[in-house]
Amino acid sequence: MEQYLTQIAPEQRSLETKNLNVYYGGTIHKLHDVSLQIPQNAITALIGASGSSKSTFLRSLNRMNDKVAKATGQIIYAGIDINHKDINVYQLRKQIGMVFQRPNPFAKSIYDNITYALKANGVKDSAVLDQAVEDSLRAAALWDEVKDSLHKSALALSGGQQQRLCIARALAMKPDILLLDEPASALDPVSTAKLEETLKQLRDQYTMVMVTHNMQQASRISDYTAFFHMGNIVEYDRTEKIFTTPRVTLTEQYINGSFG
Ligand SMILES: Nc1ncnc2c1ncn2[C@@H]1O[C@H](COP(=O)(O)OP(=O)(O)OP(=O)(O)O)[C@@H](O)[C@H]1O
Ligand SMILES: [Mg+2]
Repeated sequence: MEQYLTQIAPEQRSLETKNLNVYYGGTIHKLHDVSLQIPQNAITALIGASGSSKSTFLRSLNRMNDKVAKATGQIIYAGIDINHKDINVYQLRKQIGMVFQRPNPFAKSIYDNITYALKANGVKDSAVLDQAVEDSLRAAALWDEVKDSLHKSALALSGGQQQRLCIARALAMKPDILLLDEPASALDPVSTAKLEETLKQLRDQYTMVMVTHNMQQASRISDYTAFFHMGNIVEYDRTEKIFTTPRVTLTEQYINGSFG
Protein backbone atom coordinates (compact mmCIF):
# COMPACT_ATOMS: atom_id res chain seq x y z
CA MET A 1 0.00 0.00 0.00
CA GLU A 2 1.30 3.43 -0.95
CA GLN A 3 2.19 5.33 2.20
CA TYR A 4 3.79 8.57 3.31
CA LEU A 5 4.58 9.31 6.95
CA THR A 6 6.36 12.51 7.84
CA GLN A 7 9.08 12.40 10.50
CA ILE A 8 8.98 14.53 13.64
CA ALA A 9 12.34 15.74 14.97
CA PRO A 10 13.37 13.60 17.98
CA GLU A 11 13.36 16.53 20.43
CA GLN A 12 9.79 17.43 19.40
CA ARG A 13 8.33 13.96 19.83
CA SER A 14 5.98 13.35 22.70
CA LEU A 15 4.96 9.81 21.87
CA GLU A 16 6.10 7.39 19.21
CA THR A 17 4.76 4.03 18.12
CA LYS A 18 7.07 1.53 16.49
CA ASN A 19 5.51 -1.29 14.49
CA LEU A 20 2.36 -1.27 16.57
CA ASN A 21 -0.02 -4.11 15.71
CA VAL A 22 -3.31 -4.77 17.44
CA TYR A 23 -5.18 -8.08 17.46
CA TYR A 24 -8.66 -8.33 18.97
CA GLY A 25 -9.35 -11.56 20.79
CA GLY A 26 -5.67 -12.31 20.26
CA THR A 27 -5.98 -13.09 16.55
CA ILE A 28 -8.13 -10.61 14.61
CA HIS A 29 -5.56 -8.25 13.13
CA LYS A 30 -6.99 -4.72 13.09
CA LEU A 31 -3.99 -2.39 13.28
CA HIS A 32 -1.11 -3.03 10.91
CA ASP A 33 2.43 -2.08 11.77
CA VAL A 34 1.85 1.55 12.66
CA SER A 35 4.99 3.61 13.25
CA LEU A 36 3.93 7.16 14.03
CA GLN A 37 5.65 10.05 15.78
CA ILE A 38 3.38 12.43 17.64
CA PRO A 39 4.65 15.98 18.27
CA GLN A 40 4.42 17.61 21.69
CA ASN A 41 2.33 20.71 22.34
CA ALA A 42 0.34 20.17 19.19
CA ILE A 43 -2.96 18.66 18.14
CA THR A 44 -2.73 15.56 15.97
CA ALA A 45 -5.99 14.58 14.26
CA LEU A 46 -6.80 10.98 13.31
CA ILE A 47 -9.19 10.77 10.37
CA GLY A 48 -10.54 7.94 8.23
CA ALA A 49 -13.69 5.97 7.49
CA SER A 50 -15.68 4.15 10.14
CA GLY A 51 -13.92 0.93 11.07
CA SER A 52 -10.48 2.10 9.87
CA SER A 53 -9.08 1.55 13.42
CA LYS A 54 -8.70 5.15 14.62
CA SER A 55 -10.11 4.31 18.05
CA THR A 56 -8.15 1.07 18.14
CA PHE A 57 -4.94 3.04 17.69
CA LEU A 58 -5.94 5.80 20.13
CA ARG A 59 -7.00 3.39 22.85
CA SER A 60 -3.75 1.46 22.55
CA LEU A 61 -1.79 4.59 23.44
CA ASN A 62 -2.82 4.46 27.10
CA ARG A 63 -3.51 0.73 27.19
CA MET A 64 -7.30 1.04 27.27
CA ASN A 65 -7.54 -2.02 25.02
CA ASP A 66 -5.54 -4.30 27.29
CA LYS A 67 -8.51 -6.45 28.24
CA VAL A 68 -9.84 -7.00 24.71
CA ALA A 69 -6.81 -6.94 22.46
CA LYS A 70 -3.18 -7.91 22.17
CA ALA A 71 -0.85 -5.12 21.05
CA THR A 72 2.64 -5.90 19.78
CA GLY A 73 5.37 -3.40 19.00
CA GLN A 74 6.54 -0.45 21.02
CA ILE A 75 4.99 2.76 22.28
CA ILE A 76 7.80 5.05 23.37
CA TYR A 77 6.94 7.75 25.89
CA ALA A 78 9.52 9.65 27.95
CA GLY A 79 12.18 7.25 26.74
CA ILE A 80 10.45 4.05 27.81
CA ASP A 81 8.25 1.46 26.13
CA ILE A 82 4.85 1.89 27.75
CA ASN A 83 3.51 -1.12 25.87
CA HIS A 84 5.67 -3.35 28.09
CA LYS A 85 3.84 -5.76 30.39
CA ASP A 86 5.53 -4.40 33.52
CA ILE A 87 4.14 -0.88 33.08
CA ASN A 88 1.68 0.26 35.77
CA VAL A 89 -1.24 1.29 33.57
CA TYR A 90 -2.95 3.28 36.34
CA GLN A 91 0.11 5.49 36.73
CA LEU A 92 0.39 5.70 32.96
CA ARG A 93 -3.18 6.95 32.60
CA LYS A 94 -2.42 9.85 34.93
CA GLN A 95 0.09 11.03 32.36
CA ILE A 96 -1.93 10.04 29.31
CA GLY A 97 -5.56 10.93 29.95
CA MET A 98 -8.60 10.18 27.83
CA VAL A 99 -11.82 11.94 26.87
CA PHE A 100 -14.55 9.87 25.23
CA GLN A 101 -17.14 10.45 22.54
CA ARG A 102 -20.11 10.66 24.92
CA PRO A 103 -19.65 12.98 27.88
CA ASN A 104 -19.48 10.63 30.87
CA PRO A 105 -19.45 12.69 34.07
CA PHE A 106 -20.03 10.84 37.33
CA ALA A 107 -23.48 11.26 38.92
CA LYS A 108 -21.92 13.59 41.46
CA SER A 109 -21.45 17.33 41.83
CA ILE A 110 -19.25 19.30 39.47
CA TYR A 111 -16.78 19.74 42.32
CA ASP A 112 -16.71 16.04 43.15
CA ASN A 113 -16.22 15.05 39.52
CA ILE A 114 -12.96 16.95 39.46
CA THR A 115 -11.68 16.03 42.92
CA TYR A 116 -12.66 12.35 42.82
CA ALA A 117 -9.40 11.03 41.38
CA LEU A 118 -7.28 13.47 43.35
CA LYS A 119 -8.85 12.27 46.59
CA ALA A 120 -8.39 8.67 45.50
CA ASN A 121 -4.73 9.56 45.09
CA GLY A 122 -4.50 10.85 48.64
CA VAL A 123 -5.00 14.61 48.23
CA LYS A 124 -6.93 15.79 51.33
CA ASP A 125 -6.15 19.48 51.77
CA SER A 126 -9.33 21.35 50.87
CA ALA A 127 -7.43 24.45 49.73
CA VAL A 128 -5.46 22.28 47.29
CA LEU A 129 -8.67 20.63 46.07
CA ASP A 130 -10.44 23.99 45.67
CA GLN A 131 -7.52 25.31 43.65
CA ALA A 132 -7.44 22.21 41.45
CA VAL A 133 -11.15 22.62 40.73
CA GLU A 134 -10.76 26.26 39.74
CA ASP A 135 -7.61 25.68 37.69
CA SER A 136 -9.02 22.73 35.76
CA LEU A 137 -12.35 24.42 35.10
CA ARG A 138 -10.60 27.56 33.89
CA ALA A 139 -8.33 25.51 31.63
CA ALA A 140 -11.37 23.75 30.19
CA ALA A 141 -13.10 27.12 29.67
CA LEU A 142 -15.98 26.18 31.94
CA TRP A 143 -15.24 28.15 35.12
CA ASP A 144 -17.31 31.24 34.33
CA GLU A 145 -20.36 29.14 33.55
CA VAL A 146 -20.27 26.96 36.66
CA LYS A 147 -18.40 28.83 39.38
CA ASP A 148 -21.62 29.55 41.27
CA SER A 149 -22.95 26.00 41.01
CA LEU A 150 -19.97 23.81 41.85
CA HIS A 151 -22.03 21.69 44.21
CA LYS A 152 -24.85 21.05 41.78
CA SER A 153 -25.06 17.76 39.90
CA ALA A 154 -22.84 17.46 36.84
CA LEU A 155 -25.74 15.72 35.12
CA ALA A 156 -27.67 19.01 35.12
CA LEU A 157 -25.13 20.54 32.73
CA SER A 158 -25.68 20.68 28.96
CA GLY A 159 -23.90 18.08 26.82
CA GLY A 160 -21.27 20.60 25.77
CA GLN A 161 -20.67 21.67 29.35
CA GLN A 162 -20.47 18.03 30.43
CA GLN A 163 -17.82 17.37 27.80
CA ARG A 164 -15.76 20.35 28.98
CA LEU A 165 -16.20 19.04 32.53
CA CYS A 166 -14.79 15.71 31.38
CA ILE A 167 -11.82 17.58 29.95
CA ALA A 168 -11.44 19.47 33.26
CA ARG A 169 -11.62 16.16 35.11
CA ALA A 170 -8.83 14.77 32.93
CA LEU A 171 -6.74 17.93 33.37
CA ALA A 172 -7.03 17.78 37.17
CA MET A 173 -4.64 14.82 37.10
CA LYS A 174 -2.09 17.06 35.35
CA PRO A 175 -1.57 14.76 32.40
CA ASP A 176 0.99 15.37 29.73
CA ILE A 177 -1.05 13.94 26.87
CA LEU A 178 -4.81 14.02 26.23
CA LEU A 179 -6.39 11.42 23.97
CA LEU A 180 -9.78 12.49 22.61
CA ASP A 181 -12.08 10.14 20.71
CA GLU A 182 -14.58 12.20 18.70
CA PRO A 183 -15.07 14.58 21.63
CA ALA A 184 -17.49 16.83 19.75
CA SER A 185 -19.60 14.27 17.95
CA ALA A 186 -22.45 14.48 20.47
CA LEU A 187 -22.40 18.29 20.58
CA ASP A 188 -24.31 21.02 18.75
CA PRO A 189 -22.37 23.54 16.61
CA VAL A 190 -22.15 26.21 19.33
CA SER A 191 -20.84 23.73 21.92
CA THR A 192 -18.49 22.30 19.31
CA ALA A 193 -17.04 25.74 18.60
CA LYS A 194 -16.46 26.27 22.33
CA LEU A 195 -14.83 22.89 22.67
CA GLU A 196 -12.54 23.61 19.72
CA GLU A 197 -11.58 26.95 21.26
CA THR A 198 -10.80 25.16 24.52
CA LEU A 199 -8.58 22.61 22.79
CA LYS A 200 -6.71 25.34 20.92
CA GLN A 201 -5.96 27.06 24.21
CA LEU A 202 -4.72 23.83 25.77
CA ARG A 203 -2.27 23.23 22.96
CA ASP A 204 0.45 25.33 24.62
CA GLN A 205 0.58 22.98 27.58
CA TYR A 206 -0.58 19.60 26.35
CA THR A 207 -0.02 17.13 23.58
CA MET A 208 -3.36 16.11 22.13
CA VAL A 209 -4.38 13.28 19.84
CA MET A 210 -7.94 13.56 18.59
CA VAL A 211 -10.10 11.28 16.48
CA THR A 212 -12.60 13.22 14.40
CA HIS A 213 -15.02 12.46 11.59
CA ASN A 214 -15.31 16.12 10.87
CA MET A 215 -12.73 17.14 8.28
CA GLN A 216 -13.41 20.84 8.77
CA GLN A 217 -12.70 20.33 12.43
CA ALA A 218 -9.43 18.55 11.68
CA SER A 219 -8.36 21.33 9.34
CA ARG A 220 -9.46 24.09 11.75
CA ILE A 221 -7.68 22.94 14.87
CA SER A 222 -5.08 20.28 14.23
CA ASP A 223 -1.41 20.75 13.43
CA TYR A 224 -0.82 17.24 12.08
CA THR A 225 -3.23 14.77 10.55
CA ALA A 226 -2.98 10.99 10.14
CA PHE A 227 -5.28 9.33 7.61
CA PHE A 228 -6.31 5.77 8.47
CA HIS A 229 -7.55 3.21 5.97
CA MET A 230 -8.38 -0.40 6.86
CA GLY A 231 -6.11 -0.52 9.87
CA ASN A 232 -3.17 1.20 8.19
CA ILE A 233 -1.95 4.75 8.28
CA VAL A 234 -1.83 5.82 4.66
CA GLU A 235 -0.53 9.33 5.15
CA TYR A 236 0.69 11.50 8.00
CA ASP A 237 1.80 15.06 7.55
CA ARG A 238 1.18 18.63 8.57
CA THR A 239 -2.56 19.24 8.41
CA GLU A 240 -2.36 21.90 5.71
CA LYS A 241 -0.40 19.49 3.51
CA ILE A 242 -2.92 16.70 4.00
CA PHE A 243 -5.82 18.98 3.09
CA THR A 244 -4.22 20.90 0.22
CA THR A 245 -1.53 18.74 -1.37
CA PRO A 246 -1.70 15.16 -0.13
CA ARG A 247 0.95 12.88 -1.58
CA VAL A 248 -1.05 9.65 -1.68
CA THR A 249 -3.97 9.18 -4.09
CA LEU A 250 -6.10 7.42 -1.49
CA THR A 251 -5.80 10.40 0.86
CA GLU A 252 -6.79 12.78 -1.90
CA GLN A 253 -9.84 10.67 -2.73
CA TYR A 254 -10.90 10.57 0.92
CA ILE A 255 -10.44 14.32 1.41
CA ASN A 256 -12.43 15.00 -1.76
CA GLY A 257 -15.18 12.68 -0.63
CA SER A 258 -14.78 10.30 -3.54
CA PHE A 259 -14.93 7.38 -1.12
CA GLY A 260 -15.54 6.63 2.55
N1 LIG B 1 -13.51 -4.72 21.31
C1 LIG B 1 -13.46 -5.17 20.06
N2 LIG B 1 -13.50 -6.48 19.76
C2 LIG B 1 -13.41 -6.93 18.50
N3 LIG B 1 -13.29 -6.13 17.42
C3 LIG B 1 -13.26 -4.81 17.64
C4 LIG B 1 -13.33 -4.25 18.96
N4 LIG B 1 -13.25 -2.89 18.85
C5 LIG B 1 -13.15 -2.63 17.53
N5 LIG B 1 -13.13 -3.77 16.80
C6 LIG B 1 -13.02 -3.87 15.34
O1 LIG B 1 -11.83 -3.22 14.92
C7 LIG B 1 -12.05 -2.48 13.72
C8 LIG B 1 -11.68 -1.03 13.96
O2 LIG B 1 -12.59 -0.48 14.89
P1 LIG B 1 -12.39 0.98 15.47
O3 LIG B 1 -13.44 1.17 16.50
O4 LIG B 1 -10.98 1.15 15.89
O5 LIG B 1 -12.65 1.88 14.19
P2 LIG B 1 -12.81 3.45 14.06
O6 LIG B 1 -11.92 3.91 12.97
O7 LIG B 1 -12.63 4.08 15.40
O8 LIG B 1 -14.33 3.57 13.59
P3 LIG B 1 -15.46 4.67 13.95
O9 LIG B 1 -15.13 5.85 13.11
O10 LIG B 1 -16.73 4.02 13.54
O11 LIG B 1 -15.39 4.96 15.42
C9 LIG B 1 -13.50 -2.71 13.34
O12 LIG B 1 -13.54 -3.75 12.42
C10 LIG B 1 -14.14 -3.13 14.65
O13 LIG B 1 -15.24 -3.97 14.43
MG1 LIG C 1 -13.89 5.13 16.69
